Amino acid sequence: MVSRRIEELGESQTLFFAQQARQLKEAGVDVVSLTAGEPDFPTPRHIKDAAIEALRTDFTHYTANQGMPELLDAVGEKFSHDNGLRFTREQILVSCGAKQSIFNALCAILNPGEEVIIPAPYWVSYPSIVRLAGGIPVVVPLAEAGGYRIDPLLLRKAVTPRTRVLLLNSPGNPTGVALTREEAAGIARVVQESGILVVSDEIYEKVIFDRRTHVSIGSLQGMEDRVVTVNGVSKAYAMTGWRIGYMGGPADIVQAAAKVQGQTTNNANSIAQKATIAALRGPQEPIQEMTAEFERRRDVVVHRLSGIPSITFTPPEGAMYVLVNASGVMGKTGPDGPIANPAALAHYLLHRHHVALIPGDAFGAPTSLRLSFACSRADLEKGLARLARGLEELKN
Ligand SMILES: Cc1ncc(COP(=O)(O)O)c(C=O)c1O
Repeated sequence: MVSRRIEELGESQTLFFAQQARQLKEAGVDVVSLTAGEPDFPTPRHIKDAAIEALRTDFTHYTANQGMPELLDAVGEKFSHDNGLRFTREQILVSCGAKQSIFNALCAILNPGEEVIIPAPYWVSYPSIVRLAGGIPVVVPLAEAGGYRIDPLLLRKAVTPRTRVLLLNSPGNPTGVALTREEAAGIARVVQESGILVVSDEIYEKVIFDRRTHVSIGSLQGMEDRVVTVNGVSKAYAMTGWRIGYMGGPADIVQAAAKVQGQTTNNANSIAQKATIAALRGPQEPIQEMTAEFERRRDVVVHRLSGIPSITFTPPEGAMYVLVNASGVMGKTGPDGPIANPAALAHYLLHRHHVALIPGDAFGAPTSLRLSFACSRADLEKGLARLARGLEELKN
């Protein structure tokens, strides 16, 4: 009954393990879930107040498909101030989350069968979004030994005559790698020489550690016509449920993306648009507080994981995740049988040690688990102790 195109889409393993953890919790089991993909903070007060005001003043109708003009201006100011990107209103599109922005951008760019390069490990949804947009995902595996950093030579090798887009994500989910200016320049050279485009997912821009500066590849010289920059309020302002994302890029692509949106969802939620203006133009201190807390948690994770001999990992430079490479325990045996893959390991850890992580297969990391530190430090300490014990108890 269902189309082949949809049948072939992967089921979300991230949702599966998070849901199992939730079900165990509901059954009264003391489970620590290290699976969350969203900040565990409330949306700041002044942003919620703007939404209440929108409701009170009946701002509850359709807006312009592209987004209300005041919001387009606020997004333009943000891109200019934070990222060194200059866009006119017609170069900006507000959508229902960065996820929709990526989908709209790829629908706007791709002809059927054209290729999109996705460096792996990648965010789970990228390959499926590319397929839904009619493209073919071309996965380029990055080495853990190289810190999951992009080697321009590797990138160049992956380009074929059918390549249209490089899908970039910095800071990255699930690796936590943040592009440096030099790396971005190396990638930009390959992009320019190959005549391809970049869709740059910068949703974790604000969650960046050790005083690093986020680099937008679109701000590099000669890249203004080659990059669609995607961002949103989900992670920066703890607004995942509000569903607001946006893109800035070449006018023809953005207008084509607006056409896709106009025939599918139309404008993003009007109340959430008002709230987003308050988020972008209001006080930015809440972001700094959240990021400082994420950095302290990152330190806890790095410290604890360093004490576990059977795993390896790359300390995150941003975002809220660490990829735990458990290839050292694959083939060991637990009480329910051999640990043949990350899903078996995640199952064992959840059911025998009550700590939930997500198998890396879904992220293109076939020997790893993704650990999220979007939870309290107390939970993190408890979860990491359980992880250490669980790994220690596996038999050769
Ligand atoms: C890398 C990445 N991009 C995009 C998104 C989706 O963001 P939004 O909530 O704005 O759709 C996520 C959410 O987990 C993400 O991890």
